[in-house]
Amino acid sequence: MKHLRLSLVGFGVVGQGFAELLVDKHADLKQQFGVDVTLVGVANARHGFIYRGDGLDIPRVLELAAKRRPLAEHPGVTHWDSALGGLQASSADVLVEVTPTNLRDGEPGMSHVRMALVKGLHVVTANKGPAALAATELLTLARQHGVQLRMESTVMAGTPVISTIREGMAGARVYGIRGILNGTTNYILSAMASGRDYAEALAEAQARGYAETDPTADVEGYDAVAKTLILAALIFGRTLKPEQVIRRGITTISREQVQTALDEGKRIKLIASLRLLASDDGKGDALEARVEPGALPLDDPLARVDGVMNALTIQADTLSEVTVIGPGAGRMQTGQGLLADVIALTR
Ligand SMILES: NC(=O)c1ccc[n+]([C@@H]2O[C@H](COP(=O)([O-])OP(=O)(O)OC[C@H]3O[C@@H](n4cnc5c(N)ncnc54)[C@H](OP(=O)(O)O)[C@@H]3O)[C@@H](O)[C@H]2O)c1
Repeated sequence: MKHLRLSLVGFGVVGQGFAELLVDKHADLKQQFGVDVTLVGVANARHGFIYRGDGLDIPRVLELAAKRRPLAEHPGVTHWDSALGGLQASSADVLVEVTPTNLRDGEPGMSHVRMALVKGLHVVTANKGPAALAATELLTLARQHGVQLRMESTVMAGTPVISTIREGMAGARVYGIRGILNGTTNYILSAMASGRDYAEALAEAQARGYAETDPTADVEGYDAVAKTLILAALIFGRTLKPEQVIRRGITTISREQVQTALDEGKRIKLIASLRLLASDDGKGDALEARVEPGALPLDDPLARVDGVMNALTIQADTLSEVTVIGPGAGRMQTGQGLLADVIALTR
């Protein structure tokens, strides 16, 4: 039996969902994969980092968080005021990093991930900030320290796209990908196709908890840009800057444009794409990156992906096109992506 000791930094929607999965799947993990997973550290912003070397009582930590009680009330723990301090002073095999995404400088996740890799911990993360801004640098750091950095759930949550391409399609030459990578905008565009105007559809998405009070990151395409940068690094090995992605959001899409597309048998979707462009200057293929709305004919597999669902179509030499459709957010759905990455570490 392998033993894996995890520290979980970020204990909000996703962190708690993942912790619940660790409880629910504990016996399966032992039986099916021969791995005994123990949670030794947990941190949030309010209460800092708690650690118990022989394992925390996960239901107890979840209960404390639900009651908004200090996590340090868990019996027998050592406590630090900050996650960084706790990570520095404690020991574990894996950091699961799920603090909020920050696309300006990636913090606080960037420092957590760097600290863990340098200390020789594997890192599994759903945090798009460090992945979008510094995937290549962080993967190099991981290699230098003989550990893995896995980030399946940064794109389409637990729906497997990165592992599908890197592992399932190993050996195929991928030359393009196109996807619906943001559930909020897809929900809004789907609602507009059912007759709502933009403002009504946005208000509906906010009422259902799909859109933030400030929806800018979603509706202006920044969230999809972050995922496009992650895929550029992980699938094409290219480091792109956010400003290298041609970006247009959905705020200017009118009900009339959506209706005209419907009349032509098309659907307007916010499409994120990466495409290798052959170059004849001997410098190798350029990678074109775009996030923009487009009208898709109904025989395009992405055209019929509605509501908050996400999808990615992968174009490759040996398979022509493969499309993966599934949830792109959610507490358990993102927890599943983290769990799959943790299991992958043990192989
Ligand atoms: N929600 C989804 O469906 C989804 C899907 C894919 C990816 N993601 C990504 O997953 C990550 C987590 O999302 P979420 O929905 O769980 O966010 P969330 O509910 O806001 O939780 C964030 C957690 O991080 C903690 N935190 C913030 N700053 C910290 C710091 N300096 N040190 C330690 N902990 C800190 C917060 O502490 P407090 O509790 O004290 O505020 C909170 O527990 C984000 O990067 C998000 O983009 C989310």
